[in-house]
Amino acid sequence: MAGGGVRATAYDTAYRDSIEYPGEFWGEAAKDVHWFRQWDTVLDDSGAPFYKWFPGGVLNTCYNTLDLHVENGRGEQAALIYDSPVTDTIRRYTYRDLLDRVARCAGGLTELGVGYGDRVVIYMPMVPETVVAMLACARIGAIHSVVFGGFAARELAARITDARPKVVLSASCGIEINRIISYKPLLDSAIAMSEHKPEHCVIFQRPEQAASMVDGRDLDWEMFRHARPVSCVPVAATDPLYILYTSGTTGIPKGILRDNGGHLVALNWSMKNIYDINPGEVFWAASDVGWVVGHSYIVYAPLASGCTTVLYEGKSVGTPDPGAFWRVIEEHGVSALFTAPTAFRAIKREDPKGDYFRKYDLSGFRTLFLAGERCDPDTLRWATDLLHVPVIDHWWQTETGWAIGANAVGLGMLPVKPGSCTKPVPGYVVHVLDEHGRQVPPMTSGNVAIRLPLPPGCLTTLWNNHGDYTRTYLSEYPGYYHTGDAGYIDEDGYLWIMSRTDDIINTAGHRLSTGAMEEVIASHPDVAECAVAGVADPVKGEIPIGLVVLKAGAGRDTEEIRAELIQSVRDTIGPIASFKVVGIVRRLPKTRSGKILRGTIKKIADGESFSVPATIEDPAVLDEIRAMLSSIGFPRR
Ligand code: COA
Ligand code: AMP
Repeated sequence: MAGGGVRATAYDTAYRDSIEYPGEFWGEAAKDVHWFRQWDTVLDDSGAPFYKWFPGGVLNTCYNTLDLHVENGRGEQAALIYDSPVTDTIRRYTYRDLLDRVARCAGGLTELGVGYGDRVVIYMPMVPETVVAMLACARIGAIHSVVFGGFAARELAARITDARPKVVLSASCGIEINRIISYKPLLDSAIAMSEHKPEHCVIFQRPEQAASMVDGRDLDWEMFRHARPVSCVPVAATDPLYILYTSGTTGIPKGILRDNGGHLVALNWSMKNIYDINPGEVFWAASDVGWVVGHSYIVYAPLASGCTTVLYEGKSVGTPDPGAFWRVIEEHGVSALFTAPTAFRAIKREDPKGDYFRKYDLSGFRTLFLAGERCDPDTLRWATDLLHVPVIDHWWQTETGWAIGANAVGLGMLPVKPGSCTKPVPGYVVHVLDEHGRQVPPMTSGNVAIRLPLPPGCLTTLWNNHGDYTRTYLSEYPGYYHTGDAGYIDEDGYLWIMSRTDDIINTAGHRLSTGAMEEVIASHPDVAECAVAGVADPVKGEIPIGLVVLKAGAGRDTEEIRAELIQSVRDTIGPIASFKVVGIVRRLPKTRSGKILRGTIKKIADGESFSVPATIEDPAVLDEIRAMLSSIGFPRR
């Protein structure tokens, strides 16, 4: 029984056990994973703040996601359904079929000299070959680094330089609704920019567009189809599975490093306990494999737990059918969908009364999970009323790889409070701290931090950069991992994650650094200084807007400069930055010590009331900013 005579829920028991007896708790969860050799100890904290989960254990992630299921009789079950409205294709791959493709791709990589510990960069669209490539790397103990297709060449170059891949796997093109995005020219120019040159690029030629090849370096994906299949290489639980780069507070991306053992144990546990999904069921994460949600819940978790995963190449809206999501759920018998709130805001805008929704039979659909940004209560209520199933907002980060705060449906649903991501997931001790690192009382806002050690599955460090790992995440509050999020915990222990404490913004569920955009804008010859702030947007949640002060005597047409700035962010960071608004101002609001008041710009653009910061150099500048923002349509009504 919990305190006060209230019966402890399964969640309470699991949570308490995970914190008080982490060795027993995660050791038990690890029994659901196949090990070639059992671990020596569950958690090694001798090198704290660097922790190791399951040291001594030997396994293979690919074996657990494919071979094991085929051996256990799931060979003919669909492992992956590729649903691509943009190419009018639906294809099903059984576990046996996927295993064959992965083993051959792994064989082909081996023939190219890729082996244990080598890096492979994967710059590909949402096609089954991308999943095959990831699992093939895992099969031979190579470390993959998937780069999202919406990034520009410079971002890809930064990742190639840092990861130093032996081979890059890519495709001729991606398809954005009805536009063809040529990947190969971006790849070629990224390699030209990068300090590191991969030995080979293997290109998947899509029928929509053929890519030209570089003699001696580039090879056709066909080589994988004819390669000799290879079996799994046993790796240490603590060996890296992948590097995934994410936006930091500077323009330089951080290489989040994920291990094999802890990752597999945590993800496998989460499928049953958070998502309430059983082997054989269909799970759909409508994200992109280039993001962490795609890594964890399109690829590794559903396959590790013997489910069928849906790989969807399209958008929530804008595809030929405005009921696209409902069609996929009905057609493939999806039990749970995981996507970003922005996808639902887009659907709500296009089909507010649910007319398209009603055309489909969703009787088998049980739960909607949302993450990537806080789900605004209006959208959560709208989705709940429409779907008549629980809508669960849950909070996580690229760094953690799985949820920190959630309503763990498999442990028994807790009451939903719109706007909150419910309670900490077993394994996570979440505290809200003041600027001195002291815990604040309930209902008081502060910095959200996770007490060390982080549970299995979370980042172990940054690739080749222990220094930045400790500086970025561990030094602010000793003994804690610093999330960079601000929020509070209410009287019932529910978590309310409200905003970031740094310059990261969330645009359509994508994590972007405003600092990186400022770097690009500041490099324009006519720009004296600039500020980028994330402002509210009815569909994307937040969009970046740039305020720019031009150099005296720039003398050029401001429309032209604006267009150049928008284009240069698109060319340097990528279209995914959604940077489309630039306002020219005479000066920026600053403190007396010269710091730009970005938060104040955001409040003006959002139409929020605020008190003029006491440290402001000249309050009159705020009227100028307000007038300029109003002239370009902010605040948006
Ligand atoms: N390759 C190349 N370009 C890409 C891309 C890719 N893989 N992905 C997106 N882009 C481009 C888009 O075409 C768009 O370009 P544009 O400015 O020329 O129109 C730009 O990047 C911004 O893309 P996005 O933010 O996705 O906006 P959108 O208007 O195309 O679509 C949504 C908006 C809400 C419909 C869409 O983002 C969506 O369905 N999101 C929900 C799922 C999700 O991605 N979640 C992520 C984390 S869980
Ligand atoms: P990413 O690394 O792209 O997954 O982005 C992680 C960041 O997105 C977090 O640090 C939060 O700021 C935000 N985020 C993700 N999910 C949620 C959520 N459910 N509620 C509030 N913020 C969220």
